[in-house]
Amino acid sequence: MNQSDMVRSEHEPLVETIDVKTHFKTARGIARAVDGVSIQIRRGQSLGVVGESGSGKTVLSRSIMGLLPRNGVIREGSVRYQGQEIGNRSDKEMQSIWGREMAMIFQDPMTSLNPVMKVGKQISESLRKNLGMSSSEALAVAEKLLHDVRIPEPARRLNQYPHELSGGMRQRVMIAIAMACGPNMLFADEPTTALDVTVQAQILELLSEQKRDRNMSLLLVTHNLGVVAGYTDEIAVMYGGKVVEKAPTKTLFANTKMPYTEALLSSIPRLDQPSHSRLSTIPGRPPDIVHPPKGCRFAPRCAYVRDLCLNEEPELQQADSPDHTYRCFYPVGSPEYLERRVELTRKGELVASEGSN
Ligand SMILES: Nc1ncnc2c1ncn2[C@@H]1O[C@H](COP(=O)(O)OP(=O)(O)OP(=O)(O)O)[C@@H](O)[C@H]1O
Ligand SMILES: [Mg+2]
Repeated sequence: MNQSDMVRSEHEPLVETIDVKTHFKTARGIARAVDGVSIQIRRGQSLGVVGESGSGKTVLSRSIMGLLPRNGVIREGSVRYQGQEIGNRSDKEMQSIWGREMAMIFQDPMTSLNPVMKVGKQISESLRKNLGMSSSEALAVAEKLLHDVRIPEPARRLNQYPHELSGGMRQRVMIAIAMACGPNMLFADEPTTALDVTVQAQILELLSEQKRDRNMSLLLVTHNLGVVAGYTDEIAVMYGGKVVEKAPTKTLFANTKMPYTEALLSSIPRLDQPSHSRLSTIPGRPPDIVHPPKGCRFAPRCAYVRDLCLNEEPELQQADSPDHTYRCFYPVGSPEYLERRVELTRKGELVASEGSN
């Protein structure tokens, strides 16, 4: 890498999306799963992508990776990797990027691991294909990778099948496979949902350790803001295919602007509760992405909704700093928000949406 490349890579994002719109053809019409998303991730940085089920987190990751289902397409916008356009490249063109440059830990380890192939072979195949290693070289590296992801007795595990491992261990195998070729960018899609709290924390520690040691960038997808809090530099909150608030992690918690983010924050499961239980969920249903509502997509569920919200879509606003943006006409702390909050508190209606127990 020459000096000008180095200067460029320090300041320019490793991965960038500019106004990406990903559409699916469905029997009901066009589903706008990702609807104008712009994000940037610099080298060694981690971005958390948070939102309820169906908000577009997986589709966004898959759009960047070039791994969309057949009925999906990036209809508009740009996906860039190291400044190069990679949106809508063919699978053949993406082969040189997958594994070595960008890798993904998929949402469901049981369906993403091959049930009839030994763990060692699953890891070593990618090393042989992408890095041209011999079988014995690749198996030795696979054993080291299993050791790195803290799987006990790695040599023995190489000869086991996925069903012989616990859920936590399968998740670690997925991480080992993703890390095998030393990617610059790792997408981790809900890497901990199915695991108990202690294992969740171990997996997240492992990911951030790998990120630190290799100066890797990380996009961490989850529906739980509590999970990403300690492990990300920045957070993007998605709702109905759009990023509705984005900020450095501390700022997002300290200076929340969107009532939706506030509602997500109040629905964080507590550490002393079983991991699947929730203190509260946000009342109402996520928007229909085939026929989205006219104004703000969260308006029909928002406790602070006013007429304007139902009729006009809010543009992206800048908060106190340029790295904090949100889409809301009456953000948390605004006079209209406070007025409504007093009203709701007086009527005793804040309980359901604010999640106090
Ligand atoms: N192949 C597909 N065909 C049609 N619609 C799809 C397809 N894949 C995803 N979608 C739709 O796109 C939207 C976004 O889905 P996505 O999987 O990105 O959600 P998510 O935020 O990852 O949710 P979860 O937390 O449940 O994983 C959803 O409404 C989903 O139904
Ligand atoms: Mg998903």
